[in-house]
Amino acid sequence: MPVNRIDISGATLGVLDEGAGEPLVFVHGFPLDHTMWQGQIDVFSSRYRVLAPDLRGFGASDVRGETMTMEDFADDLAAMLDALGVGRPIALCGLSMGGYIAFRFAAKYASQLRSLILCDTRAAADSPEAAANRLKMAEQVLSKGAEVAANAMLPKLFGPRTVAERPELPAATRRVIESTKPAAIAAAQRGMAARPDSTALLPQIRVPTLVVVGEDDAIAPVAEMRGIAAEISGAEFVVVPAAGHMAPLENPTAFNAALEKFLSSN
Ligand code: MLT
Repeated sequence: MPVNRIDISGATLGVLDEGAGEPLVFVHGFPLDHTMWQGQIDVFSSRYRVLAPDLRGFGASDVRGETMTMEDFADDLAAMLDALGVGRPIALCGLSMGGYIAFRFAAKYASQLRSLILCDTRAAADSPEAAANRLKMAEQVLSKGAEVAANAMLPKLFGPRTVAERPELPAATRRVIESTKPAAIAAAQRGMAARPDSTALLPQIRVPTLVVVGEDDAIAPVAEMRGIAAEISGAEFVVVPAAGHMAPLENPTAFNAALEKFLSSN
C-alpha cells in the first residue's frame, strides 16, 4: 500500500493515508512501523480515513536528534494532521509506545480528540531499573545494530499460541525491527526512559475510550490494563483471546470486532 511522504519540522515522515470519512489514526509500537496495522488498515479504510504514520525515525521516516520524547512524537502527529489537512477531532489508536504517545496527545491536544483506543500499553512511568535498561539498550543498538533490539523484544511481543501456530508473524516482525535505523531505536528508548507518569491524566480523559489488551500480554499485563480502564470515566475494556502484546496483529478478527463496535457507537 502506498505511503505518502510529508515534510514536517525539518524531517520527512512516511504516512499511510487511505480511505475517506472520519479520521482514524493508528500509532505503532516500538521498534516497529505502520505495517503492524495492516489487518486494521485493510478493514477500516473502507469506512474511515485511516492514517498510519511511521513515527519519526521508523519505517520510511527520517531520524531527528538523540532523543525523541513521547511529547515530540505527539507534536509530530499534530503537525502531520495539519500537513495533510485532516479535520478534527480524530479517533486515536495507539499500541504500547503508541499508547504512551496517545497519552501525551490527550494531555496536549485534548480538543483534537474524538475518541481514544489504548492497546497493550502502560500509564505508569518506568522504574529506575527499567529506564537504565533502556539507556543500555540504546548504546548497544548504536554499537552493535538493531538485531540487539530484535533479540530483546521478540520473546516478549507475541503470545504462546501465535509463536506455536503462526511463526511467520514473529519472523516478519523480526525483519521490521532488524531493518530499523539504530539511531531511531536509541532515540525512542531514551524518550521512553524519560516519559512522565500518565496515571494522573487518566481521570481527566473526557473522550470515549476503549482499553484493549491481549490475554497473554507480557509487557502490559491484563490486570494493569484493567486498572487503566477503571481510572478513565466510562472506558470500555476488552481482552483479546489468543494474543500477547501485539493483539491487533495476532488476533485481528477479535481486535477489529471490538474496535468496530466501539467506533460505531462513539
Ligand atoms: C512497544 O511495544 O511499543 C514497547 O513494548 C514499548 C516499551 O518498550 O515499553
